[in-house]
Amino acid sequence: MNIKKICCIGAGYVGGPTMTVIAQKCPHIEVTVVDLNAERILAWNDENVENIPIYEPGLSSIVAEARGRNLFFSTDVEKAIDEADIIFISVNTPTKTYGKGKNMAADLKYIELCARQIAKVAKSDKIVVEKSTLPVRTAEAIKSILDHTGNGVQFQILSNPEFLAEGTAVEDLLHPDRILIGGDRTPEGQEAIAALVAVYANWVDRDKILTTNVWSSELSKLTANAFLAQRISSINAMSELCEKTGADVNEVARAIGMDSRIGNKFLKASVGFGGSCFQKDILNLVYIAKSYGLHEVADYWEQVIIMNDHQKRRFSNKIVQTLYNTVADKKIAFLGWAFKKDTNDTRESAAIYVADALINEQAKIAVFDPKVSESKVLSDLNYLQSRSSDENKDAISSLDSAYSACKNAHAVAVLTEWDEFKEYDWTKIYESMQKPAFIFDGRNILDKQILEKIGFVYCGIGVL
Ligand code: NAD
Ligand code: UGA
Repeated sequence: MNIKKICCIGAGYVGGPTMTVIAQKCPHIEVTVVDLNAERILAWNDENVENIPIYEPGLSSIVAEARGRNLFFSTDVEKAIDEADIIFISVNTPTKTYGKGKNMAADLKYIELCARQIAKVAKSDKIVVEKSTLPVRTAEAIKSILDHTGNGVQFQILSNPEFLAEGTAVEDLLHPDRILIGGDRTPEGQEAIAALVAVYANWVDRDKILTTNVWSSELSKLTANAFLAQRISSINAMSELCEKTGADVNEVARAIGMDSRIGNKFLKASVGFGGSCFQKDILNLVYIAKSYGLHEVADYWEQVIIMNDHQKRRFSNKIVQTLYNTVADKKIAFLGWAFKKDTNDTRESAAIYVADALINEQAKIAVFDPKVSESKVLSDLNYLQSRSSDENKDAISSLDSAYSACKNAHAVAVLTEWDEFKEYDWTKIYESMQKPAFIFDGRNILDKQILEKIGFVYCGIGVL
């Protein structure tokens, strides 16, 4: 099958960058990204490419190159489905907030809506690709919906999970560790796999394109995220022990990371992992294990989340304890609000939970993040429903520079590892703060010795 037109449903953090890179690398394929969110599509089509809705290093220039040539963003979902040979489903799959599996299972209502819409609109055979992260065996439900259209259209369902990380999305898409494609063992299934392999082979070495059955592919995605998050919870667990024993978690991470069996990546102790996926995907894994009666398996993975919640709480408790057990009416400057550097995404950011805990103690928070707006900070806090929007407005503000956020503050807390924080004039910041001036480095990115020499009281993660 020769692919001429691709449609992607969902113009979010995955759909947008993924399709942009496919369009750049496959100028012979027309790629249309559709979304129900008209505002988001408007932003993707903004004349000034710097205003696209997602900040990712290197993304805007590729959008500028491909948009209008063979890359299109539209709200006309039906037209794009009708015309496409391949349809990627890249919609959100959040944790369920109601009913059976509440707070654990993945909410598949958006996925099902897509399947129903494809079933309704399609008049010719299609390959439907699960790009979203899904519980193992979701393809079965999609197939059932698509196979009951009764109009004779044939569908092949492939699983092609995305492994990009935000902040490095373009680099990850251009040079992936692997591309994973799961499909049926039937001749039709194999033909569909071959068609998708041919798309990626335009820029990815064939030996990095792995093909499996559908269930292995779906489960591999959840497994990869669980393993990655587990490493962070493991090093964070050690960070607490380091603080009790005088060991330095950065030194421990370096020492174990040099063992080639362990490897040195994903060993940075922190205030806790955030992002829209690690927690959601592990909860989903735990739910699946429980639903098969595998309680030991479920408990094992749930501990990764328990440890992460503990680490976020531990960080806010440490701030309160160190500031003489009260932060009431004290100003605390937050450097960073995004869940990691080089992204404007704040979903499940540790900063939100730390701020919430400190506001419960009546602290005043002044945030500076180079890519996050004041309205986003407020809406993130409001989402927790801990207090009224007016109370949040009174307790938190967002400033346009770190220097103004830190002015007259009793303490600075580093919540995101933005590189620019390391370049600041910390003497100037120190001089503008209340004394003693405290710094809580939730990312271990600043130089403890230099800061202490300036006069700061320094508290890192897992270092004394
Ligand atoms: P997102 O919320 O940024 O984007 C999803 C988009 O889908 C939204 O804009 C929404 O309006 C749109 N949408 C929902 N239902 C729709 C429908 N029926 N028709 C048209 N549009 C619809 O989510 P995301 O971060 O891009 O994640 C998407 C999926 O990819 C999730 O399953 C996630 O787990 C997975 N994933 C995310 C990342 C990441 O870094 N964010 C990485 C790998 C995998
Ligand atoms: C993660 C995975 O890395 C991607 O492979 C996956 O595709 C994606 O989830 C997904 O499925 O959504 P992402 O969440 O974008 O990507 O970013 P990560 O780099 O994994 O960071 C996640 C969180 O862990 C961040 O808050 C980060 O600061 C934190 N982290 C990361 C640490 O605290 N320590 C580390 O050593 C690494």
